[in-house]
Amino acid sequence: MDRFLSNAKMGTRSEVKKYIKSGLATVNGIVIRDESFHVSEKDVVKLDGKLVLPHRMVYIIFNKPSGYVSDRTENEACIYDLIDHPYLDELQVAGRLDKDVEGLMLLSNDGVFIHKIISPKNHVQKEYLVWFQGELTNWKIELVQKGLKTPTEQFKPAILRSIRPGLLSLTITEGKYHQVKKMMNFLDLHYTKIQRIRIGKIEIGDLKPGDFRELFEDEIKSLFLNS
Ligand code: URA
Repeated sequence: MDRFLSNAKMGTRSEVKKYIKSGLATVNGIVIRDESFHVSEKDVVKLDGKLVLPHRMVYIIFNKPSGYVSDRTENEACIYDLIDHPYLDELQVAGRLDKDVEGLMLLSNDGVFIHKIISPKNHVQKEYLVWFQGELTNWKIELVQKGLKTPTEQFKPAILRSIRPGLLSLTITEGKYHQVKKMMNFLDLHYTKIQRIRIGKIEIGDLKPGDFRELFEDEIKSLFLNS
């Protein structure tokens, strides 16, 4: 009983034990004061009269502002400072963004989901907008289309599109360390701002910087259809 309630984010293990002892927990309408009571799948559990949903997988879309790191750290402002969610301690990112990069991030406590998104084998597209200075020629676009080869790295074929002078879109299906920045540097394009706007079919839309929401079921499924 205490494990069920704490896994369901109703409080720490010791907090929920206190709730149980004080008679706040019911199973199928009966008060249960025994913390070792075994909760089974079909049981209806309530705490202080409110239905408790069992532990679940959560999938979150977040608009990362610039200036936050993607790792849990106490020394610097990190994205987890901005996400007020009961499952926060379990959330992992599906692809980090650098401190100075902003935009769409997906977070989940489902390791299989995270792996599917970041594994290049699944070809999930990640689209970035890049504000830049420099000349974007057709030749550079073709190089990227063929798969950019730098002296130290080989990138998979990607899609580079000019949106307007000084703004381009780059779509990649892998997530190598500093990949967008390395590609820009190699193409002699000086980036001034990078924003991820899409992962698979999921777009940042009108989610404001610093805001998050849970994904809908069809959005989660759409990630692994052809993107
Ligand atoms: N590529 C980068 O260079 N940085 C990021 O944060 C993401 C992709």
